[in-house]
Amino acid sequence: MDRFHILGPTPLVGRVRASGAKNAALPALAASLLTDEPVTLHRVPRVRDLRTMCRLLDYLGVGSEEREAPAPGLPDFADPELPADPEGSQSTQSPESSRSTKSTEGSKSGASPEAVAEAVLVLRRSRPSSGADAPYELVKTMRASVLVLGPLLARYGFARVSLPGGCAIGVRPIDQHLKGLAALGADVRLAGGYVETRASRLTGARFRFDLPTVTGTENLLLAACLARGTTVLENCAREPEVADLARLLNAMGARISGAGGDTVVVDGVDGLGGAVHRVIPDRIEGGTYLIGAAITGGDVLLEQANAADLAPLLDKLAEVGVEIEVSPAGIRARVRAGDGSLRARDVATAPHPGFPTDLQAQYMALMTRAAGTSTIRETVFENRFQHVSELARMGARVHVDGRSARVDGPTELTGAAVMATDLRASACLVLAGVAAAGTTVVDRIYHLDRGYEGMELKLQGLGAHVARVTESMAT
Ligand code: EPU
Repeated sequence: MDRFHILGPTPLVGRVRASGAKNAALPALAASLLTDEPVTLHRVPRVRDLRTMCRLLDYLGVGSEEREAPAPGLPDFADPELPADPEGSQSTQSPESSRSTKSTEGSKSGASPEAVAEAVLVLRRSRPSSGADAPYELVKTMRASVLVLGPLLARYGFARVSLPGGCAIGVRPIDQHLKGLAALGADVRLAGGYVETRASRLTGARFRFDLPTVTGTENLLLAACLARGTTVLENCAREPEVADLARLLNAMGARISGAGGDTVVVDGVDGLGGAVHRVIPDRIEGGTYLIGAAITGGDVLLEQANAADLAPLLDKLAEVGVEIEVSPAGIRARVRAGDGSLRARDVATAPHPGFPTDLQAQYMALMTRAAGTSTIRETVFENRFQHVSELARMGARVHVDGRSARVDGPTELTGAAVMATDLRASACLVLAGVAAAGTTVVDRIYHLDRGYEGMELKLQGLGAHVARVTESMAT
């Protein structure tokens, strides 16, 4: 299993380019199930969740081919070196003495912002579907696999998908996905851990979500675009990733209006064709580096980011005392007065355009370095404070009471051995490690690899001393 070894503190300084949004690329890949023509996606982040989705699509008869972005001088990405699945490495765990370690720290000169080449993925039906069936083995490692439910049902009139189950951050039911599909006329049954849905052809309807759900809204869009008649979806998730999916579907021939707003109207069509689409930049990944600039007293220019999508974070960082500058070159975050200038500010997560739950853990790391007491309220997921006990190992003073955490700062963070528990908790610990004095070892980096493309390369490019250490059996 891989670890990050981090030697801090180091101010993050320089330029970094946002990768494509994982959470926009995942539904975009699922959209390829709706057509027999090729769907070409640019700026697909090379992260493990996308590979998991490719494996699932392959099982369902849609092959994916990676192409190098046409930019000369960039590293070959046809042979991406993603770390092995954690399940695999866990099963070969061995006594410390029989392990060899391999570090992948870059040269002192650091990686350039271009070190992570932009991926282009062509998705194309390679064979008739082996059935509209997504088995547990392929679904269990990634909740977003449920995004194949809508397109499979719309395309084949039947879909059987393993229930994704809970995860580290909460129970995360999919009742809204199922209620929505039922409103479009699907017969929905649960049996043996699977959801089975049937409808000879879905029929447009008016449906109101009980609460805004991102993948739920996306699943309904994917299904409704091939339904007979008009679907009106109310109380939709307004995340930019939903709007990005609608842009792709419209390019494929769908007729969707209002995506990104509360009410989305879908006029069903009889079939969809191929398209070429560029995935939006990852606001969560980009936001992580901006928080990184703040927590380390640094100066980072985030390139190719969309400032409007990041507004809730940028506003909060400005309140905290971080200087934010938005220009055609990107978003610059810097702390001028150095250590001690950050002010504690409360935050409550909320669906977009509120403060994203996916940046809550990273923001908490920042608040440990800010002067004063802040309250961080998590309203989206019920169990998303697992980073707290690990931050405490680094000296943070955080008290959790239900869905609120009180952070007393500023704290001099010190390096420690910590364990990542989920994707965003990992990012929080890595940022804390760069800001902390001494060595931090972040274990279980496979969580990070689900959603951050080349994070150690990007951090090295900003001057951090971060090394990926791969432990494997000595041969
Ligand atoms: N919910 C229900 N019923 C449903 C669906 C959702 O009760 O049928 C609840 C959830 O339990 C949660 C809330 O609604 O309390 C919002 O969940 P949502 O459905 O919006 O989350 P999601 O679609 O499963 C996506 C992202 C998450 C991100 C959330 C919130 C993808 C693939 N995942 O999840 O991303 O945290 O929206 O913004 O888009 C991450 O990238 O680290 C990540 C967890």
